[in-house]
Amino acid sequence: MSTSQTLLERRRRVLGQHSPLFYDNPLHLVRGEGVWLYDADGRRYLDVYNNVPHVGHCHPHVVEALSRQASTLNVHTRYLHENVVRYGERLTATFDDSLQMAMFTCSGSEANELALRMARYCSGGSGILVTDFAYHGNTEAVAELGTAFMAEAKASARVRSIPIPDSYRGMDGLEGEALAQAYADKVAEAIAAFEADGIKLAGMLVCPDFANEGLLKVPPGFLEKAVALVRDAGGLFIADEVQAGFGRSGHHMWAHQAYDVVPDIVTLGKPMGNGHPLAGVVARGELVDCFAASSMYFNTFGGNPVSTAVGMAVLDVLEQEELLDNAVSTGAYVTEGLKKLQQRYSLIGDVRSLGMFFAVELVKDRDNKTPAPEATHLLVNRMREEGVLISKIGRDDSILKLRPPMPFQPEHADLLLQKLDETLAWVETEVVR
Ligand SMILES: Cc1ncc(COP(=O)(O)O)c(C=O)c1O
Repeated sequence: MSTSQTLLERRRRVLGQHSPLFYDNPLHLVRGEGVWLYDADGRRYLDVYNNVPHVGHCHPHVVEALSRQASTLNVHTRYLHENVVRYGERLTATFDDSLQMAMFTCSGSEANELALRMARYCSGGSGILVTDFAYHGNTEAVAELGTAFMAEAKASARVRSIPIPDSYRGMDGLEGEALAQAYADKVAEAIAAFEADGIKLAGMLVCPDFANEGLLKVPPGFLEKAVALVRDAGGLFIADEVQAGFGRSGHHMWAHQAYDVVPDIVTLGKPMGNGHPLAGVVARGELVDCFAASSMYFNTFGGNPVSTAVGMAVLDVLEQEELLDNAVSTGAYVTEGLKKLQQRYSLIGDVRSLGMFFAVELVKDRDNKTPAPEATHLLVNRMREEGVLISKIGRDDSILKLRPPMPFQPEHADLLLQKLDETLAWVETEVVR
């Protein structure tokens, strides 16, 4: 039995059968560098999936900052230290002037948990609106928001879901402004349903890219209308930037900046520490003050000197390597290539992109937009065998999720597109057969 098979059996024994693993043939990785990952047999894979190693796997500047601070001092945030203050200043400077204060956590789930506590305490409400295919993390209160995968979401009276605002699939044949209004009407209905149940609204928590939902093309004007309705009802707008943030969309540091609306609270995570557990909340100063005055907030590991040294190193690399500009230019190159493939393969129903984030929706037939989950599964697994790592998202598991580390270059895109081309041709024959 190979080392990887033995490892798989040991893993199942100690972590259980349901601990999730990617691919039918799980990957045993031992090393990473830039946009490349290496398995236990020394085989190289192009990483077109992982957003956590945001500035590239094991970036030397980040590794050096981590090791330098780890060999000097690491303590919690109840002592004065330059790093936590400097990082807070640098981070909040990338937001609207109204979003001036930061609180640090170790995971996106903790950040959303803190945002929920703050929103509920400061608004005096408890009702939270989310989309009907949402994932925001794994704590008890956050699991209630997880309409995609969590049992708790079905049982919660203080969470209501709104339809995902999707221009590709639409609603009642509507388009543009009318579609935005129809989705906003659903927000108004959900708020009215809370009121009818005697539940005051605390806020709406959504990912501004609607990434887990399938990186949707949001009908223009929808989010602005929805936020206005939420604020009229006394609620706050919480933007979950855990997946979408830190410049992935290219044109903006934060995905919500593409809209004509400023959130009250923003949650951050994943790419923030390039793999080191660093996450947090950025919010309006009066909300942080209102909440923290009566609820002491302390997090043993969150925002420690090592974590914040890492956070600053990530910001350095984003700036020095001009990775937002790269997301725009290489992102456009990838999108063009994907659209060319769409012309040749009827399996591709829609191609969507935002900077260095791409969604390719696979359908059995373009007229009815029937989802193609079997083809998606085959394709993702075949790509892995071909040495290119991608994954899938969406309610029907039929949307390819391509979200490489930010230093992804056109030469990497060429390999991705070539392998996708060959694999799509193979999948079409496999599925048709
Ligand atoms: C949009 C979004 N929010 C929050 C989380 C939770 O983050 P974490 O796994 O760091 O707790 C995730 C994780 O997948 C996410 O995709």
